[in-house]
Amino acid sequence: MTARTVLLLLPLLIASGCSSDEAEPPPGDPEVGQAAIREYGCGSCHVIPGIGGADGRTGPSLERIARRVYLAGVLPNTPDDMVRWIREPEAVDPRTAMPNMGVGESDARNITAYLYTLK
Ligand code: HEC
Repeated sequence: MTARTVLLLLPLLIASGCSSDEAEPPPGDPEVGQAAIREYGCGSCHVIPGIGGADGRTGPSLERIARRVYLAGVLPNTPDDMVRWIREPEAVDPRTAMPNMGVGESDARNITAYLYTLK
């Protein structure tokens, strides 16, 4: 790409970045994710709206998590990064108290889809 092309595209890039303040919805099924959150017991450590009994205080509340800028204070909050965090939190931050719960890729995508409904 030439410098000229970049200059021409710049306003477009900026405009598309500003036109929506929400990330793309992640591929995944929020309803299946809601069930998976119950199965994995995420609510033992997190307050999670829409999940009965999810009132744990070890981790931060996931209320309005879709609007959080950073996940666990270290990862930009994008669907891909949320999947990554849910699957292997200690790979992102070795000192985190959140354990690796052996969440599979598709479960993590569905869970992420549900968490992104919490705005
Ligand atoms: C043993 C307790 C524990 C369990 C179980 C647990 N987490 Fe966590 N989680 C934490 C802690 C502690 C943090 C904060 C991590 C940090 O800031 O380093 C965290 C952070 C998070 C974050 C980022 C929140 C934020 O405010 O940035 C998400 C999303 C998350 N957990 C999702 C899940 C999901 C989904 C599950 C179930 C698969 C789960 N957690 C299970 C303890 C737990």
